[in-house]
Amino acid sequence: MKKKQNKMRNLYDQTADYYDNRYWPIQIKKYNEFLDVLTPEPLILDVGGGSGLLKRVINSPLVIFDVSIEMLRVGQEKYNSINLIAGDAESLPIRDRSFILITSFSMLPNLQNPLKGLLEMERVMTPNSKLVLTVLDKKISELGLKGLTEQTNLDIELRSPSIEDIGGILTVRHKPLNSDNQEKMS
Ligand SMILES: C[S@@+](CC[C@H](N)C(=O)[O-])C[C@H]1O[C@@H](n2cnc3c(N)ncnc32)[C@H](O)[C@@H]1O
Repeated sequence: MKKKQNKMRNLYDQTADYYDNRYWPIQIKKYNEFLDVLTPEPLILDVGGGSGLLKRVINSPLVIFDVSIEMLRVGQEKYNSINLIAGDAESLPIRDRSFILITSFSMLPNLQNPLKGLLEMERVMTPNSKLVLTVLDKKISELGLKGLTEQTNLDIELRSPSIEDIGGILTVRHKPLNSDNQEKMS
């Protein structure tokens, strides 16, 4: 197991029972910033979804993916209707193009290789999917997040859900038709 993944898993396993009370007042601000995107969707994949706090603000069915078994356990005790998957977000055991809406609140900088995690989320998106992503500004600046996104095939519409956080809505970049394609179509 990777060193950072192991460290994060231990950290969140140990704090899982206190997480909801401690972080709800902070996390709700982030969720609220994206309610327009979150509410009408049928099924959400929440990468690094932890204890399922997001479920407090949405009715949609949720698949929570997380490295911490204890965070997932806390989620399962609260909601028996959520689906849980344990693993590392740098290697999602999920088929290509299988989710219309993906969320990832406050998780990306926890990864040993955040770009790898972002590319994995891109892989499971369809051409029309949306990815709602937030990161702690202290860990990845706005420029850093843009730079990361530029290394993928995703576009980002930046939003800042709180003073500490930056984030945005990411969509798959549709490449403009090049002259070859245009000729073939004419
Ligand atoms: C700050 S918490 C955010 C939890 C949740 N997204 C929320 O809004 O409450 C970060 C979460 O990322 C998870 N995490 C850290 N490293 C991970 C990895 N390599 N793969 C998957 N999840 C990871 C942690 O276990 C933890 O649940």
